[in-house]
Parts: sequence; C-alpha cells; structure tokens
Amino acid sequence: MGGCFSKPKPVEVKIEVVLPEKERAKEEMSPNGKASPLVYKVNGTARHYHLEEHPITINPYQNVKDVVEASVCHVKDLENGQMREVDLGCGKALLIKENGDYYAMGHKCPHYGAPLVKGVLSKGRVRCPWHGACFSIGTGDIEDFPGLDSLPKFQVKIEKEKVYIRASKQALLTQRRTKVMAKCISLSNYNISSTNVLIIGAGAAGLVCAETLRQEGFSDRIVMCTMDRHLPYDRPKLSKSMDSHLDQITLRPKEFFRTNDIEVLTETQVAAVDIKNKIAVFKDGFKMDYNKLLIATGNTPKALSCKGKEVENVFNIRTPEDANRVVKLASSKNAVIVGASFLGMEVAAYLTEKAHSVSVVELEEVPFKKFFGEKVGQALMKMFENNRVKFYMQTEVSELREQEGKLKEVVLKSGKVLRADVCVIGIGASPATGFLKQSGINIDSKGFIVVNKMMQTNIPGVFAAGDAVTFPLALRNNKKVNIPHWQMAHMHGRIAALNMLAHGTEISTVPYLWTAVFGKSLRYAGHGEGFDDVVFQGDLDELKFVAFYTKTGDMSWLTGKGS
Ligand SMILES: Cc1cc2nc3c(=O)[nH]c(=O)nc-3n(C[C@H](O)[C@H](O)[C@H](O)COP(=O)(O)OP(=O)(O)OC[C@H]3O[C@@H](n4cnc5c(N)ncnc54)[C@H](O)[C@@H]3O)c2cc1C
Ligand code: FES
Repeated sequence: MGGCFSKPKPVEVKIEVVLPEKERAKEEMSPNGKASPLVYKVNGTARHYHLEEHPITINPYQNVKDVVEASVCHVKDLENGQMREVDLGCGKALLIKENGDYYAMGHKCPHYGAPLVKGVLSKGRVRCPWHGACFSIGTGDIEDFPGLDSLPKFQVKIEKEKVYIRASKQALLTQRRTKVMAKCISLSNYNISSTNVLIIGAGAAGLVCAETLRQEGFSDRIVMCTMDRHLPYDRPKLSKSMDSHLDQITLRPKEFFRTNDIEVLTETQVAAVDIKNKIAVFKDGFKMDYNKLLIATGNTPKALSCKGKEVENVFNIRTPEDANRVVKLASSKNAVIVGASFLGMEVAAYLTEKAHSVSVVELEEVPFKKFFGEKVGQALMKMFENNRVKFYMQTEVSELREQEGKLKEVVLKSGKVLRADVCVIGIGASPATGFLKQSGINIDSKGFIVVNKMMQTNIPGVFAAGDAVTFPLALRNNKKVNIPHWQMAHMHGRIAALNMLAHGTEISTVPYLWTAVFGKSLRYAGHGEGFDDVVFQGDLDELKFVAFYTKTGDMSWLTGKGS
C-alpha cells in the first residue's frame, strides 16, 4: 500500500426475549451494499485522516442543559486503589482513586452491564468482573474485550475537601460511549467492484476490525461480507439464551453501519482469493478487488457421520434461527445433545426448563475433562444431574432414526436407544478456510491460517483473525495457538485493523473464556494444553472456587461462582 492509513464474579446473562421472527430485506441488511451502493473513489491508495476534514473530537459538556454537577463524597472517603459507585441524582458514576488522583466514568460495563465497582482496579485500568473487559481510567476507552463500546468519562474536581463530579446526563443514562468514527470521504467515481478494505466474515473479528479502522480515522471504502442473513450478532448468546430474537442480539443496528459507511454484504460467500491480482471471487462469480484484506471466516461445526445424519430436526447452533427452532421443538419433548462441549452443555442447561427430557451423549467419562480436569468435570456433571440432565458417557451415536423424515430416536453404540424429538450436535468445529487452499496464503495442517503477532499472513496486505487463525501467544513463549474465544476474536480484529494502518501493534492479551449454566458462571483465563496439577481454593462442591492449572511453570486459572 502506498502511504499508510492511518482489547472474577457471577454471570448473569438474563435476556428478555421473544418477538416474532422478521425477515429482513436484503437492502436493509446491506446498508451500502449491493442493492444501494454508495459512490466511492477507490484508487488503491490510502492516507491519513485529517482532523480538519471531519473533526473527531467533541466536547461532551457543550450543552449546558445536559450537564449535572454534584458533590459525591469527602476526599477521605476513598483510599488509593479504591473504587466507589456514586449517585449524581440523575444517574450513577464510578469514582476511582489511584496514585492520589481521582477519576470518574460510567459504572456499568457496556458489554452486559456488570457493576464495574465489583471488578478489579489495577495500573490505570478497571477489569470487568463478569467477562474481563478492560477500561482505561484515564480515558474510559475499552482496552481489552469483549464488548464494542467504551465508558463515558466524567470530570472530577476537588473543592474544600469534597469531591465533585461534572457529567453529561445523557452519558449517565446510557453508560456507554461509542467512539467517534471517521466518515468515508471517497465518494466520487465509484466502482462497485473495488474496495479499499475487504473483510471476509462479519463475526466479532470482522466487525471490530471495521470499527477500529473508522475509529482510527480511516476514511476509504470498507466492505464486509458474510454468509449469514443477518448483520453481526452476539453468537455466545445463541446457546445461553436460546429463544432470543435477532433484534435482541444484534451487535449494532443497521443505522450504525449506514452512518459509519461500513458496507455489509449478507448472504455472500467468497469462493476464492486471487492474491496476485488482489481480487476476491464470490460464489456467484462477482469479483471485487481490494487493497487490504482481512480473512475472519471463523469455523464450521462438525457434523455427525452416522447413519441417518440427514434426518430433520438435527441442529448445529450457528444462527438465531437454529437456536429458536431448537427451543420450539424441545418444548415438552425429548432433546438429545451430542457432545458435552461448552456449546452442548449450555444448550442442555437451557433446555432443562423447557423439555420433557434432556440427555447428553459424550465420548469422555466426564464432561470438560480435558479442559478443566476430572474434579471440576464431576462437580459440573453433578449439578447437571441435579437439574434432570441424563448423561450417556463413553459412548457415541451409531444411528439417528426417523419417522416421516423427522428424528424419532438416537441409537447409541452402547445399544441404548433414546427417544428424541430434537438433537443438537456440539462435537467441535474446523476452520472455515477451505476456499483458500489454492490461494498461496499459508494454512497449517489443521486448516488454520497462520499469522504473526500483527495478524499478518505470509502475503503482504492480507490479514487474518478470529477462530480461523493460529497466532503466536506471548504467554506461551510465542507458540502458535488457535483460541476460538469471543474475546480473542475482538482483539484479533482490533490488532489487524491497527496494522492495516501501519501502527506496528503486536497482540498481547490473556485469553479469556466464560460459560454460564444454571445461574453459575465459569471463567477461564490463560491457555493450557494439558496440566500436571490443579490447585483449588474455595469449595468445589458448592461450585464456589478458583482452580489453578499448572504445567512446568505455566499457569491458567478457572473461577466458578453462583449468581
Ligand atoms: C453457540 C455458540 C456459543 C459460544 N459461546 C461462547 C462463549 O460463551 N464464550 C466465548 O468466548 N466464545 C463463545 N463462542 C465462540 C465465539 O462465538 C467465537 O470465538 C467467535 O464468534 C469467533 O469470531 P470470528 O469473527 O472469528 O468468527 P465468527 O463469529 O464465526 O464469524 C465468521 C464469519 O465469517 C463468515 N464466513 C465464513 N466463511 C465465509 C466465506 N467463505 N465467505 C464469506 N463469509 C464467510 C460467516 O458467515 C460469519 O459472518 C461460542 C460460539 C457458538 C457457536
Ligand atoms: S459484562 Fe463486562 S465484560 Fe461482559
């Protein structure tokens, strides 16, 4: 490219749901997409965004009517290293004291609304107690994920030993701040088949990449494409809050994409990438050239290979439609979950209140054994059993039997026959990178795209991020690892965007995974491939514990708590 363009407590996820399913017109899904393209000048070059073109800083205190100022405490009420929720009358703020200085910002995590006062304050950052998002106390900016928005920042002043906070009422109400983004300024001589940045995949990695580019002032054309029918949505909720309507899990409304000139081509599959000519070839034959490319195609769930695998009412949970349909079919009926994976166990937990019976079939003898070890696995299994889930361990499915084309029974290799009206498969996934086989982009033996610490592939200008990649993990001595976590996909997307803009930013984050079942939350930080020892603190039987997984000097840790 010529020039340069310019990141523990209870879970929680209580979602109110159920609106009628609504088909969206493709035009709506593609704000500036195929149906109504904007006019863009695309000359393959890019440049720094100039502040004078579109000022990107605004003064939150411009509107006097929107401002509230209140005395919130005495200076002695707060010690260094302490946080406190304070009430300004029309909303709360988080007051922080570190190294003698006071800071004030939103008190609720913009991700799912956790009370940040219960999080951890350390070295200029507050870490969310629920899923580990991190916010700078200096700016309120999000620095580690999950979540897309930052926190509103408020002014603090000390007068006569009293602490005053001056805040925007609107910001106190919303408790979030979407970073200001650059506008696309290439609006002449458009050529629909050319873009500057093409993002294949509109999951967490793709979306964060697009947003970061705009936040950093990138003002040329950005096109994202996805095989999905929908704009990016909160995939982890699909197995935790299965009857959520699309509107409740969409990460950004369509107006957001329109306002920020991020084009999303839905139901669009890239079939091949010609790296020499910098062209992406779509399944329908349409070609689009790019200047920079991000491949964030995630993974494809593995299917059963047994007899009867094609019968109706067997699902992988990948879309809101899948999740909604499973709940409907399972209602007062028999559900069988194949695979005691995170996805499988979350689905099993969710369905216990709806279904007549929930059975889990698993090859291992204990759920999560490889990941959490036998003791934690057994404790979790007990909790599931206490909630009516029946386990069929150390066996697998040999046949899915149908009646009038619909699933009726699941036959196990052990000989057991389970009545089943719906079946959910959670037996793992493989990277969705098959279309890159002939591309020259470096793919490892398992199909993962190999990237460096800047999310760059072996091809200049081609970046990759999220579940589809293997990348060097600093805390494992830069060993190449694949970490299919929601938080990691966000971080990858951000790093890729920064490096498209030649920032030279290397990834440095601690992997973080969470799951929530029966009102209990499990949070896992670090990355372990096996362990020699597990050290417990707390009460495992009560599922209120911290487990430290250790292996030749490496350590990961897991916390479990009731909500
Ligand atoms: C049900 C479920 C629950 C989960 N729960 C959790 C959780 O609790 N915590 C956690 O940390 N992680 C969880 N995960 C994992 C998490 O969702 C993933 O790590 C994350 O979504 C990865 O983001 P991504 O952007 O890499 O890919 P994805 O979100 O999978 O997005 C991939 C995108 O690429 C598109 N695509 C693929 N191939 C092509 C192509 N050829 N052409 C065009 N577009 C293409 C897809 O349509 C999609 O838009 C869960 C996953 C699932 C399925
Ligand atoms: S609620 Fe804060 S990271 Fe999820």
